[in-house]
Amino acid sequence: MTKIRTAVFPVAGLGTRFLPATKAMPKEMLTVVDKPVIQYVVDEAREAGIEHFIFVTGRNKTVIADHFDVQFELEATLSERGKTAELDALRADLPKPGQYSFTRQQEPLGLGHAVWCARHLINDNPFALLLPDMLMPWEPGCLAQMVDMYEQTGGNIISVEEVEKDQVCKYGIVGVGEDVGDGFRVNSMIEKPKPEAAPSNLFISGRYILQPEIMELLGSHERGAGNEIQLTDAMIRLSKEVPFYGYRFPGRSFDCGSKTGFLAANVYYALRRPDIEPEFREILKTVI
Ligand code: UTP
Repeated sequence: MTKIRTAVFPVAGLGTRFLPATKAMPKEMLTVVDKPVIQYVVDEAREAGIEHFIFVTGRNKTVIADHFDVQFELEATLSERGKTAELDALRADLPKPGQYSFTRQQEPLGLGHAVWCARHLINDNPFALLLPDMLMPWEPGCLAQMVDMYEQTGGNIISVEEVEKDQVCKYGIVGVGEDVGDGFRVNSMIEKPKPEAAPSNLFISGRYILQPEIMELLGSHERGAGNEIQLTDAMIRLSKEVPFYGYRFPGRSFDCGSKTGFLAANVYYALRRPDIEPEFREILKTVI
């Protein structure tokens, strides 16, 4: 079985839910505590053994590439001032030469289209897909657990999580088949169903392991919900030919593309940082 060595990060969306913050700055660069959201997701991928990181970017997103590059003047200044801890932290986050690739989605035609833009970098290999605005704190990380599961099952794997029944209409929802290893066989998928039509309350939460055949299906450029090229539509078609499995993420994810999700993520991560937690908890009490 081919190991999962490559991950795709679609970062070309407009981030309209987060305007005006995202007018000139990518939402993936918003900071949770003291790191951009994208850094958490890249770290999760690295922990899962990913060696090639593919970013599908768009206009106004070049700062993402800069974030993962050497900042020569900054490093020289930190070095001169003897700030070795800060310097070491910056260097630890840097990719090795050639590990990062960037391609463009010229128009934001949907998540499915963004993934398709990476087809020539994927070639014929299975790959991981991480939605960079979904933070999924857990140890070991969500993708690392999915990679473990993949070694038993092969096929395609999607992370799922419970949502209130009256919220299913906001998400892609899966139907639950027989147990397989730590997960289950997905027997149906439906994008944004009405509660009475939903096969479960498990939503597709932002981490995927996909077989390269998905690219051919995405290449048909069929429009779905919101007149966008939807990944879920292509997965529904692919699931008729090759199995899909669901991995139940045991934690809770934070949608940092929404204002409340982003704020909740900041509180969650700050309360788990030993250097910040005591003072922050006290401040939070007085604010509330
Ligand atoms: P979202 O559904 O959050 O869309 O995309 P968005 O455009 O970023 O944000 P809103 O809804 O307008 O606020 C999920 C992920 O897919 C990427 C986004 O960058 C985000 O990481 N995406 C979405 C693309 O790369 N291209 C697209 O055309 C759409």
